[in-house]
Amino acid sequence: MFSRLKNKVVLITGGSNGIGRACALAYAEAGARLMLGARRPEPLAETAAEIREKFGVEVETRTLDVRDGASVEAFVGATVERFGRIDILINNAGLAVGMDKLADGLDDDWARMIETNVVGALRVVRAVVRVMLTQPEGGDVVSLGSLAGHIAYEGGGVYCATKHALRAITEALRQETLGKNIRVGSIDPGMVETEFSRVRFKGDADRAKSVYRGMTPLTAEDIAECIVFMTGRPAHVCIEKIIINPTDQAGLKVHRRE
Ligand SMILES: NC(=O)c1ccc[n+]([C@@H]2O[C@H](COP(=O)([O-])OP(=O)(O)OC[C@H]3O[C@@H](n4cnc5c(N)ncnc54)[C@H](OP(=O)(O)O)[C@@H]3O)[C@@H](O)[C@H]2O)c1
Repeated sequence: MFSRLKNKVVLITGGSNGIGRACALAYAEAGARLMLGARRPEPLAETAAEIREKFGVEVETRTLDVRDGASVEAFVGATVERFGRIDILINNAGLAVGMDKLADGLDDDWARMIETNVVGALRVVRAVVRVMLTQPEGGDVVSLGSLAGHIAYEGGGVYCATKHALRAITEALRQETLGKNIRVGSIDPGMVETEFSRVRFKGDADRAKSVYRGMTPLTAEDIAECIVFMTGRPAHVCIEKIIINPTDQAGLKVHRRE
């Protein structure tokens, strides 16, 4: 599997933290070349330095805000300029903001989620797929969906709406690129312990920690391992979707806790 990923050019949005960072390390271990983007330059630089030291592969970073169309175009353009192609897109940048019920929702929270998870993800897909369509070998597009893209829950209406939208985008893209050697898939996790909850609760670390109290959540590395498996299949095999939960989770609000 690893030999198929060697020297592939992998572009990761949100490559500085959590799942994106774990993907960067996993692809580097497989010998791939990397372009990582996120808004904050320091964690990006730290991730790249760790990768160079541990795996010695080529890795570039660039600040990226998927909510800004020019930033996305510059990021994808810089990848092609540096590596000449893009083989794998990990369409990962995303976030939840707040847990208010819809009647109490804040415009700013809604806008951040929709602008990042839907419009931003769309911009990234458009820019990268245009490159892949020029490559006879096509490429892989893997988006970070969520269990929230299949089921809705109280306090998560807008986040769930964005992940339902991403599922529709993924399905449409798979049909639109049929016959172009472009494999389109998603991984749809339940609870993964990253900075996700800290961002959702606007920096409240105690509240974020309490989300995983008494249970064993997934790790970012668990997700990265699955994504590397998906994209490491032979060219005629397309894994469309992986739904993955902690063993301690059986639904969005169904957990085994000690
Ligand atoms: N953790 C979970 O339980 C879970 C479950 C299902 C799905 N997911 C999905 O998995 C993806 C990754 O989440 P995570 O858990 O790894 O969270 P995380 O640890 O908070 O990482 C999110 C990453 O996205 C980047 N990012 C956020 N907004 C961005 C923007 N506007 N432009 C560019 N980069 C941006 C962040 O860096 P900067 O802040 O520096 O930009 C960071 O690198 C998200 O799409 C999330 O919805 C997570």
